[in-house]
Amino acid sequence: MASIFETYKDKIATLPKERGWITKDHYMYQGFWHQSRHVISVESTMALQDTFKARPTDIYMVTLPKAGTTWLKALMFALVNRTRYKNDGLSTHPLLVSNPHNCLPQLEMEVVRNTPSYVDPHSTRLFSTHIPVTSLPQSILDHGCRIVYMCRNPKDVLVSLFHFANKLRRHNSSDLLTFEEAFKMFSKGMMVNGPYWDHVKGYHKVSLEHPENVFFLTYEDLTVDTMNNVKRLAKFLGYPFTKEEEAEGVVQEIVRLCSFENLSEVNKHGDLREGIPNDAFFRKGKIRDWTNHLTDEMSTILDEITKEKLHDLNISF
Ligand code: A3P
Repeated sequence: MASIFETYKDKIATLPKERGWITKDHYMYQGFWHQSRHVISVESTMALQDTFKARPTDIYMVTLPKAGTTWLKALMFALVNRTRYKNDGLSTHPLLVSNPHNCLPQLEMEVVRNTPSYVDPHSTRLFSTHIPVTSLPQSILDHGCRIVYMCRNPKDVLVSLFHFANKLRRHNSSDLLTFEEAFKMFSKGMMVNGPYWDHVKGYHKVSLEHPENVFFLTYEDLTVDTMNNVKRLAKFLGYPFTKEEEAEGVVQEIVRLCSFENLSEVNKHGDLREGIPNDAFFRKGKIRDWTNHLTDEMSTILDEITKEKLHDLNISF
């Protein structure tokens, strides 16, 4: 079978392109920027649109890169699978030995490689994706599958992406980006699956149209009130905490298991199968780190774009 990179080669050659953050170029497809010849790519998006069949019981989590994907993967995996590991007080939990990216599969990878570890074919299928709502495989929307969307303050996404991209560029011996270059790319909307604002807006719209199917969350809310938001999330996923569980402290256990402190310790060494170091997904895990990176002028420019594009959404970052 031809690789998806060969299948879509001619189609991709016609797309507008710009310099990329991690891969050499980004391509504009259906209004959003994508990498090419990568797991998270325009080819995997096209292949999913052409071949992926959702099931009505599937649950999808959607984020932009650096919006807290790793944290949300850990939480959703831990919530949905919690009864499997409870007897031994979570001591054999996969999140104590493996990166959350190995526990909850990225949809884009499904068309590039075989079933990942820890996925039980008999339980609810959980997938993560960065694909914008307008490019999601149609069957996900047709089935009304549950979707959890998490966004994060754009200025913190920019800072986090800048550090992540340079870590991988260093790893691949590529030239490093300056913060000014990163700022310019981001503010023009150029990031993987960006423009940032259009991605957020698209999912926010469907969350208003279908609140029973789409749960909209921010990294900031999850940071400030982790316990309550984890309980809301569990309920939305169809795995609400029982009174007994709450009394036994199960919510706290899951929050602790998925905390930055715990996961960054577990993932100090080793690489993901894609060759990305496990520790690349853990930097500071704080809100408002942008204050240490952006000039006043940069901050004002991004605030103005956010105000113009997202003013009617009432999101508090
Ligand atoms: P910072 O670079 O600001 O520290 P993603 O998972 O989407 O790639 O996002 C990575 C960001 O989430 C990084 O932000 C990382 O430190 C933070 N992060 C990773 N695990 C986290 C956790 N368990 N709790 C809070 N933040 C976490």
